[in-house]
Amino acid sequence: MGVETWVLVATVAVLAWLYSKWRHSYWSSRGVPSPPALPFLGHYHKAYFMNKTSWVFYNEMYKKFRDASMFGMYEVWNPILVLWDPEIMKHIFIKDFDHFTDRRTFELDTGNEREQMIMEMLTLKNGAAWKSLRAIMTPTFTSGKIKSMFPLVCDKADALVKFSMKQAAENPHVDMKNNFGRFTMDTIASCAFGIECNSLVDKNAEFPRKAEKFFTPSFTAIMKIMLYSVMPKPFKFFRVHLNPPEVDFFMDVIRKTVAARQGGEKRGDFLDLLLEARDDPDNPNNKQVLGELTIVAQSLLFIIAGYRTTAALLSFSSFLLAKNKDQQHRLRDELRQMVAEHGDITYQAIMEAKLLDACLQETLRLYPSGLVLERSCTKTIKLPGTDLTLKPGDLVEVPVWCLHHDPRYWPDPEAFIPDRFLPENKGNIHPFTHMPFGMGPRNCIAMRFALLETKVALAKLLLKAELEVAPGHEEVALETGVNGFIRPKDGIILSMKPVKE
Ligand code: HEM
Repeated sequence: MGVETWVLVATVAVLAWLYSKWRHSYWSSRGVPSPPALPFLGHYHKAYFMNKTSWVFYNEMYKKFRDASMFGMYEVWNPILVLWDPEIMKHIFIKDFDHFTDRRTFELDTGNEREQMIMEMLTLKNGAAWKSLRAIMTPTFTSGKIKSMFPLVCDKADALVKFSMKQAAENPHVDMKNNFGRFTMDTIASCAFGIECNSLVDKNAEFPRKAEKFFTPSFTAIMKIMLYSVMPKPFKFFRVHLNPPEVDFFMDVIRKTVAARQGGEKRGDFLDLLLEARDDPDNPNNKQVLGELTIVAQSLLFIIAGYRTTAALLSFSSFLLAKNKDQQHRLRDELRQMVAEHGDITYQAIMEAKLLDACLQETLRLYPSGLVLERSCTKTIKLPGTDLTLKPGDLVEVPVWCLHHDPRYWPDPEAFIPDRFLPENKGNIHPFTHMPFGMGPRNCIAMRFALLETKVALAKLLLKAELEVAPGHEEVALETGVNGFIRPKDGIILSMKPVKE
């Protein structure tokens, strides 16, 4: 290369570096503290899906910027404000929710049906489209509707116990992470769209295999999404898929099920309820919002949002109970008493089991699925108590993991103490310090369903087996998945001894 070329390359590099510096001065110019950022990448490599231990970064920053209660970071160029001041959180999630109705925008416009369908999911909708779809879907998750799914959930929980006890009889240890994954897949497939995917009967069932593939994106798939976020046009031109072919498998299965229901067959599951919402003549929005693709999208979303999250909650809670035998025995006593009073594990009994609820809330405190909650500003607003003004499109994150482990709010924060969540102690919990299902009108739409599913499975399991951690598996390693959700990295290996009922 000649000297001129070198000079040109050096000039471009310096200009790019200066541009990067300028983009990364967004927070300092607004008086918000920010940790040193890598040129170009910002904090992308530390906080996002490439990094499987991103909670470590958030924890360090939470401690470092404790007094400011906020810090600014960069996802490549994009500025993100991470904050945890209770008063500001109250405004963002509740009081000024109309300024923060959205999450970040993903434009997956590759001209393919796969991506079009993904864009129809409630989680990715924003503004008026989100509001309208959420309003249609909310009645699907009322207590009454969820109660009607109780028998379906019980069926799958019985299958889980049978499957696990058979394994326990044949092996000294059982990988319960694997079994809980099979249980939540069967339950969600049955409750979401009436499909028997039989993962608790057939070890090689197709459904969980496809789901596992879908949830474990290859390096190329991750790179494709990163590239798409910087230059979407070539993807659209060449109609390159961003989602794996497994999506087609799920779309096909759901479409066939929808078609089978056109004859009026009902099963009392979420699909019936979505179809009812579509056909409700009193709902002026239904025809326009709930087209076939939208219904398919919500059914698939239920799997995406509910499969690993619920399996992780079951894995972590059984692990904690296996480690804390005194709590396990207390809980088994409560469950036995419950069965004695109600004659069986009934819906009513599950709703009344206070220690069962407390154990799950404490598990969710120690291991919340969502590392952070995210909102995107939709209208200009000055944050209360600060000089900081956010404009439309600015992203805000709340570090749930850090709040759940903060010793200022939770004495002995790493200890498993379910009593914190018993009714008599709940009043001591500080607002906005326990948010495993999110907060405000955009929280988890299926919280009650997820808790019911978990409670039934755990109750049935504990009534049959004493759980014990297998030697060498006393610690649980964690990792964050592509969607930022935290889960156990390896198996949850337990020994299970039958107990007298
Ligand atoms: C233990 C299990 C679960 C946990 C811990 C969990 C947690 C969460 C969290 C943290 C959010 C974000 C809330 C926010 O931004 O404020 C969320 C949203 C959501 N969850 Fe769950 N979830 C669970 C199970 C489920 C299940 C079983 C389903 C479906 C059947 C589901 C469907 C959804 C949907 C559709 C949203 C998006 C709501 C919206 O954008 O309006 N989740 N969940």
